[in-house]
Amino acid sequence: MSIVHLNGKNLPADQACVPVLDRGFIFGDGVYEMIPVFGGRPFRLDEHLQRLENSLAEVRIPNPHTRTEWATLIQRLIDANRGDKANSGDQSLYLQVTRGPAARDHALPENPAPTVFAMSNPLRPPATYIIEQGIKAITLDDIRWARCHIKAISLLPNILLRQTALDADAAEAILIRDGYATEGAASNLFVVLGEGKDAVLITPPKGPRLLPGITRDVILELARAHGIACREDEIRREDLARASEIWVTSSTREILPVTTLDDAPVGDGKPGPVFRQMHALYQANKAELRGAPTNTTNPEQA
Ligand code: PDD
Repeated sequence: MSIVHLNGKNLPADQACVPVLDRGFIFGDGVYEMIPVFGGRPFRLDEHLQRLENSLAEVRIPNPHTRTEWATLIQRLIDANRGDKANSGDQSLYLQVTRGPAARDHALPENPAPTVFAMSNPLRPPATYIIEQGIKAITLDDIRWARCHIKAISLLPNILLRQTALDADAAEAILIRDGYATEGAASNLFVVLGEGKDAVLITPPKGPRLLPGITRDVILELARAHGIACREDEIRREDLARASEIWVTSSTREILPVTTLDDAPVGDGKPGPVFRQMHALYQANKAELRGAPTNTTNPEQA
């Protein structure tokens, strides 16, 4: 039985209970984070906590914890689950904060008592055959709201978009708004335009149309550090058709090459050279974290 965190306590998942009037349950009124954990260490913890703080501020939920308290809580939950054989490898740590229980009313409660919930699940890297063959994706109209930079738990549009992709035998939906590709249903988007020396890696700039992904930032950082030409720029729908490579990225699925889009091959229909280089760099970055001392807020100082 996995151990979860609820409002200050770690306990077995089947003993964790939330009041039915919690606004997370009634309205989907809350925000979340998904933090990958490699070798018992949370990856880019400060960046994830910064994004959590931004999401909380945007939706006006008071932040129940300091950065150090968050780091402590997260590390304790990781450690509590490492003893469980099924969860002793890499983990994905899910963290959510809702506005807490209150009588049902659209107006914000005067003195909210946010509910803090966290759980950890085994995290497995994408299967080798997926890295070798790539995935299928389809384009769909972005039916979400106008504030996609907030990591809100109300994910109904994302769920329906992802399911539409799955129903079409594709692994992800690439979303189009006003003629521009924004991101995936649960991932960020990269394209490579041009080939060889002319290849340039492009991802849409941050803004309200997409989630500022942590993996996205890692990839841009790695590209800049290793001389891979890259820029943040709009991606038009037509760019997808002429891209030599398309990738989707997230904390849980890392970097996935899209080799078929809307039933047509992307480039030569195989994962491209820029993907292969970036995939190796990302794996090396993970390996470094496994070996390195914790380089973020030290929970022991709490
Ligand atoms: N989702 N865009 C959307 C809409 C997402 O839901 C996600 C990740 C990303 C990638 O962000 P990051 O690199 O920080 O994981 C982009 C998580 C994994 C989820 O909802 O399960």
